[in-house]
Amino acid sequence: MSPLGIYIHWPYCARICPYCDFNVYRSRRGGDAEEALVAAMRADLAAYRAWTGPRALVSIFFGGGTPSLMAPAHVAQLISVCCDLWSAEAELEISLEANPTDAEAARFEGLRAAGVTRLSLGLQSLSDQELKFLGRDHSAAEGRRASMLALRLFDRCSADLIYALPNQQLQAWSETLNEGVQMGFSHISPYQLTIEAGTAFARATQRGAWRPCEEDRCADLYDLTQTQLSAAGFEAYEVSNHAKGPSERARHNLLYWTGKDYVGVGPGAHGRLSRDGVRFATQAPDRPAAYIAARRGANLAPPPMTRLTSVEAAEERLLMGLRLVEGVSWAEVAALGLVPESPVITALVEEGHLRIDAIGLRTTAAGRRLLDHLTRRLVLASAD
Ligand SMILES: C[S@@+](CC[C@H](N)C(=O)[O-])C[C@H]1O[C@@H](n2cnc3c(N)ncnc32)[C@H](O)[C@@H]1O
Ligand code: SF4
Repeated sequence: MSPLGIYIHWPYCARICPYCDFNVYRSRRGGDAEEALVAAMRADLAAYRAWTGPRALVSIFFGGGTPSLMAPAHVAQLISVCCDLWSAEAELEISLEANPTDAEAARFEGLRAAGVTRLSLGLQSLSDQELKFLGRDHSAAEGRRASMLALRLFDRCSADLIYALPNQQLQAWSETLNEGVQMGFSHISPYQLTIEAGTAFARATQRGAWRPCEEDRCADLYDLTQTQLSAAGFEAYEVSNHAKGPSERARHNLLYWTGKDYVGVGPGAHGRLSRDGVRFATQAPDRPAAYIAARRGANLAPPPMTRLTSVEAAEERLLMGLRLVEGVSWAEVAALGLVPESPVITALVEEGHLRIDAIGLRTTAAGRRLLDHLTRRLVLASAD
């Protein structure tokens, strides 16, 4: 049976952060409203099972939004539905994204009892001043308390951190990273602050309230991240993900980066599924009410799917695969006409940004610093 992952999107947050452009709605939910959304997700999962047939379930990921606001009983219920529908592998990874407020940390025990094995904690920073700038609703002390508790309760824990804040000094970022390492996280995801269109941060920068971190500083902060985490025994297995050895890699995200199948349920969730060599994309309606309405009365009818052309599928493989140190195989990008002798490949190898062999292509450490630029050149060259 081929492997399958499940992504479950919980779209509610207690407060909307000024940099966030995910599909999120301000609400704590609970009660009947939470019940209705969970019922729609259960129906959605059953419909996907009717389409996929039996598969080996390797991962369930509760993402958001803020799934740590979900009632643990609902998390347990959805895990049990997934395991009843598909065959759970012995090494099934069950991850959940949590915000580190005291109120949410109080649910960690319930979430672990519900079956969560891996907690991804949105620390973002360990400085009160930076957290205030990021509009977070937790203090650095709460972040530290939640980290200690998570590391004690869960088999595996990851910390999300955001860097490249305006004027951020290398020393300040180095101290945050070091504290994350010292606390004992075995997986760290440091993300460079991106000013996303339509967010409060985009409006603030447009009216000149503050200027984003300048590019050379961003590059220095990225380089510092690589050097410091590598010295602490972390492998930079993906552009923004560092793990203390292969067993600590995020198995769910590896499904995305290696082109495997995953079902996406919940408002706005994306999925990718394959059948008879054809790849399909799914996207659920964004608004919770529309999502619930779409599932009502649909019974086991499959959610709408878009068939990807072989070029679209290969383009996705290139964009996702080059994020990983292992890269992609020539066979996966054949539909783009990329071969070892392609002029763009030769140029990128000579520049020291790509490495190739008989199996495929992968970025060098220097290439990963310029990944967006590299992938744009490869895609444009294949379109010629
Ligand atoms: C789905 S989000 C949020 C998970 C959780 N609700 C939280 O806020 O901690 C996953 C991660 O994406 C990162 N992120 C979101 N927006 C970002 C942005 N504009 N720039 C950089 N990182 C971002 C944050 O580190 C966040 O933890
Ligand atoms: S960053 Fe996290 S908590 Fe903040 S709005 Fe986005 S999903 Fe919600």
